Amino acid sequence: MENNMMPHLEELNGRKALFVDGKPFIILGLQWDCDGCYTPEDMDPFFEHGQKMGLNAASLLLYWREVEPVEGEYHFEMLDHRIEMARKHNMKIVLVWFGSFKNGCLTYAPDYVRSDHKRFIKVQDKEGNLHTNHCCPTAAETYRRDELALIEIFKHLKEIDSKDHTVILFQIENETGIFGTDRCYCDNCNTEYAKDNYGEKYGVRAGESFSAKCIAEYCDSLTKTVKSIHPVPVYMNVWLNKIYKNEKAGFDYPAGGPVLPVLDIYFKTVKHIDFISPDIYQYSYKDFNYFCKAYTTKDNPLYVAECATGKGARTEKNVFYAIGKYAAIGYDPWAINRCCPGFMTQPLVNTVDGRWSDEAYELHKSYKMINDAMEPIVLAQNTPSLKIFVQEEGDNGALLEFDDLDIEILYDHPLNAARGMVIRRSAMEFILLGAGGHVSFSKKGGKRVSVSKVESGRFQGDAWVLSYQLSSERAPFESIQMLDCRVLRVVLGERLDKPDLK
Ligand code: DGJ
Repeated sequence: MENNMMPHLEELNGRKALFVDGKPFIILGLQWDCDGCYTPEDMDPFFEHGQKMGLNAASLLLYWREVEPVEGEYHFEMLDHRIEMARKHNMKIVLVWFGSFKNGCLTYAPDYVRSDHKRFIKVQDKEGNLHTNHCCPTAAETYRRDELALIEIFKHLKEIDSKDHTVILFQIENETGIFGTDRCYCDNCNTEYAKDNYGEKYGVRAGESFSAKCIAEYCDSLTKTVKSIHPVPVYMNVWLNKIYKNEKAGFDYPAGGPVLPVLDIYFKTVKHIDFISPDIYQYSYKDFNYFCKAYTTKDNPLYVAECATGKGARTEKNVFYAIGKYAAIGYDPWAINRCCPGFMTQPLVNTVDGRWSDEAYELHKSYKMINDAMEPIVLAQNTPSLKIFVQEEGDNGALLEFDDLDIEILYDHPLNAARGMVIRRSAMEFILLGAGGHVSFSKKGGKRVSVSKVESGRFQGDAWVLSYQLSSERAPFESIQMLDCRVLRVVLGERLDKPDLK
């Protein structure tokens, strides 16, 4: 396959869209529990469930200590295994690198890095205490070994994945930052800090801003190296700071990660990282929307790198906000086999007996519908032709307003989880996908417009594949019931520009 078929981002409708194997693609994924999926026995059972749940990608972990257990000895058996499993289950992979930073810690670095504090400098606070589980962001030797491991990984990927492109996206490090202090106060960091007027420029956030600049450079430089070998898109994820609480960098959240207060430093510094993605563990739809909006710009497409699962997490609803309102290129809740928050609660797939939670069935419906209309969705994202509805507490319905007509949705969902999307394909043709709603069309000003044809089916690329047509004897239809899990193609029965007869 040609190199131009590499997964890549492309300008479309004023934002960046993801293309995989030459086609528009939205990642509908789930992450595997990163702190509990180390062996094939741990991770394999979930591929079949993931496939049934409608995932087109799995977000899988790659641990530095697994790849390079001993300095200079590289092992790819587990990486190969993950790729083989994904291919077998018709999924792509978002590969997540746990190198020098994993939730602000060095947890997954090899022992030779973790145990040697002279060669591999660790974070030092103002009082001179050493924080041995945290990497100093200017530690040259740690950087060098992290980079060497990544070079080997990317050479390997180039060799085994240049034809299939199973790995479509790479996460450089994980929830970067440091803990125990706002910045590292080792001699080297102190010298670097003194060179630039951080105190004057950033006031109370001076230390955090310095950490942000150093980590942005660290990750961007790693990204430059890996992309020169095998150019898959690369992103960073973020441990967010809370909106309503005055949290302290380095104590409540890792100092130096791309949180909102220092995001501009990242945007100015990084040249090779494709985008920065929030991990949104917030239950309220307002908070979810707040962070989606904050991490969506013309050049920074939204990819929800992680979000909550489990009871009340609204995973199946939030995907419509992300994709429909913010033109997201992907959505990857954490995790298929574990909930966050609420680690001890029933996960989407029970690890012992494989039982699905209620939330798993609902997520499956959302993913199936979106998958079945993938290309029209991507082509309509960020345009007025695509509108969404999501039932929130107290809502009975929604009004979707187009220039010349209104679409009314009356909610009827047993779990109050009506949700879906309408795409206008032409003046008379609409695609409806959703759960729990009765849909009717009206001209601006109120007169009902009937529907002459309702078909159920799915899209293959941009081509409609009909599975069946609702009985034409019932036409014209006054209103249409959204069918769970189905994509409907609807044709209006009368022209909208025709004057109404008295
Ligand atoms: C966010 C991290 O990025 C993940 O690796 C995982 O630790 C989850 N939190 C759940 O704790």
